[in-house]
Amino acid sequence: MSELISQTLTLIRPDDWHLHLRDGATLQSVIAHTARQFQRAIIMPNLQPPVTTGERALEYRERILDAVLKAGLPADAFTPLMTLYLTDNTSAEEIRGAYATGVIHAVKLYPAGATTNSDAGVTDLLGRCGDALEAMQDIGMPLLVHGEVTDPDVDLFDREAVFIERVMIPLRQRYPALKVVFEHLTTKEGVDYVSQADGPIAATLTAHHLLYNRNAIFQGGLRPHWYCLPVLKREVHRQALLEAATSGSPRFFLGTDSAPHARGRKEHACGCAGCYTALHAMELYATAFERAGRLDKLEAFASLNGPAFYGLPVNSGTLTLEKRPFTIPETVPMGDDELVPLAAGEALEWSVRED
Ligand code: NCD
Ligand code: ZN
Repeated sequence: MSELISQTLTLIRPDDWHLHLRDGATLQSVIAHTARQFQRAIIMPNLQPPVTTGERALEYRERILDAVLKAGLPADAFTPLMTLYLTDNTSAEEIRGAYATGVIHAVKLYPAGATTNSDAGVTDLLGRCGDALEAMQDIGMPLLVHGEVTDPDVDLFDREAVFIERVMIPLRQRYPALKVVFEHLTTKEGVDYVSQADGPIAATLTAHHLLYNRNAIFQGGLRPHWYCLPVLKREVHRQALLEAATSGSPRFFLGTDSAPHARGRKEHACGCAGCYTALHAMELYATAFERAGRLDKLEAFASLNGPAFYGLPVNSGTLTLEKRPFTIPETVPMGDDELVPLAAGEALEWSVRED
């Protein structure tokens, strides 16, 4: 027992390659959770209005940096890596200008209607976004893909697999040198595609898709805090994702997709999609990796593979996890409201050490 209690795991400081911070009071409430665990994060641009221009991304970056300081953290505690929200009208000039700032690192594709604040997203990627994609391929700026079709005739659980056939394969045939990140991968079909495809492709994996299957949404009743997009899938998919994450392949890396929504917006007749995991991200990932017997692969997944794909340096700091139970709080404050973290009230096997 004492041996277990003293068991620690020190990693190169990790990064979160897919994060929703929101804005205003929500941003202020959640920023310290991410900064406690991660040095950098790729910041999703699905605000209202969306972050469609370099100018908006730079302004949003300033608000994030202000929030870091207001949270009482040193300025260098956290580095936001900004993204642009792709629309049917994004110009090549906008892309090139944004990338040239050195702080806007990628462009996010939301198929219109696929998820939270995606109404301004892309209606026809290959038909409408050719100039933007050409420019990105040319300068080496990654396209981050929410890989789900929105065709109402396609079953919700098949949206990712159908996206591969209808969009991902044609996209990458036309732009073979375009760097693509298949965000929050959720299926075996996705893992097979990303593992076997030629060229510069990678995928982020959330902690919740590594730990839970779709039963979690319905266990003992309908549980809205387990609802996210892409939705949790069958056990066979979870196993494929966990195998990919722990395989050591450089194509898979950490992206929490932590997505805060006020409690009342989740516990609602038409509840919002998104799981809040920024509070306990590394505890969740460590639990998943340990259950797979592959804790030795966590550092590559969390701290090395992402920077390698994005062409960024590896962080210099460290993060230490301890084998000490962590009970997830029932709620955390969010502005005047509150939010419910994923798996609230449950105990995880690992804790982040406060240095
Ligand atoms: C995200 C959000 O709330 O912004 N929700 C989610 O379920 N993951 C959007 C997204 O990444 O799809
Ligand atoms: Zn997301």
